Amino acid sequence: MNNDHGGVIAIYPGSFDPLTNGHVDIIERGARLFDRIIVGVLINLEKSPLFTVPERVDIARRVFRDYTNVEVDTFDGLLVDYARRKHATVIVRGLRAISDFEYEMQMALMNRNLNPEVETVFMMPAEPYTYVSSRLVKEVAALGGSVTNLVPRLVEERLRQKKHGRQTLRA
Ligand SMILES: Nc1ncnc2c1ncn2[C@@H]1O[C@H](COP(=O)(O)OP(=O)(O)OP(=O)(O)O)[C@@H](O)[C@H]1O
Ligand SMILES: [Mg+2]
Repeated sequence: MNNDHGGVIAIYPGSFDPLTNGHVDIIERGARLFDRIIVGVLINLEKSPLFTVPERVDIARRVFRDYTNVEVDTFDGLLVDYARRKHATVIVRGLRAISDFEYEMQMALMNRNLNPEVETVFMMPAEPYTYVSSRLVKEVAALGGSVTNLVPRLVEERLRQKKHGRQTLRA
C-alpha cells in the first residue's frame, strides 16, 4: 500500500508509560520495514500514568533522535481517524505472548471494520523482551529492583528521578 506522500507510513500507538526496550525493538523493526513510523503516544485521561504525556514524548524523541524516519507524536480519539489524518496505511503492534493475542486481534478486526484501508501488522520482539511490559518495569523500579537492559538508559534515569521525587515528597 502506498500513498501520495512518499512511501508507506506506519503508526505505532501505545501508552509508552514508559518506553521499554520491547517498544524500542518494535520501533526499530518498523523503521526498517516502513518509510516512516510514527510513535503515537495515546492521550488517555482515564489511566493514572507515572510519566506525563510530554515526558513520554520527550523520552521517545531523545531515544530516537538519530532515526530520520521515526517521528513521535500524540493523539486521542479513534486510532483509525488519526491514521487517516497522518496518511498512514499501517498500524504496528507488538505481540509478546498468547496473552496479548486476544485483545490485539479484537482491536485489529475492529479497526479494520472502522477503516478497511488501514492494515494492522504484528511484530515479535527479540526473545529477551517478550516478558517486558511498562507496568512490570514500573513495579520493579518502584520497589528498588534493577531495570537495566529492560529500558533505555534514559528511562532508567527518569525512573530513578521519579522514585527519588516521591521519597522526597513523603519525607
Ligand atoms: N516487550 C514488548 N515486546 C513487543 N511488543 C510490546 C512490548 N511491550 C509492549 N508491546 C506492544 O507495544 C504496543 C503498545 O503497548 P503499551 O504502550 O500498552 O505497552 P505495555 O508495555 O503493554 O504497557 P502496559 O504495561 O501499561 O500495558 C502494544 O502493541 C504492545 O503489545
Ligand atoms: Mg499493554
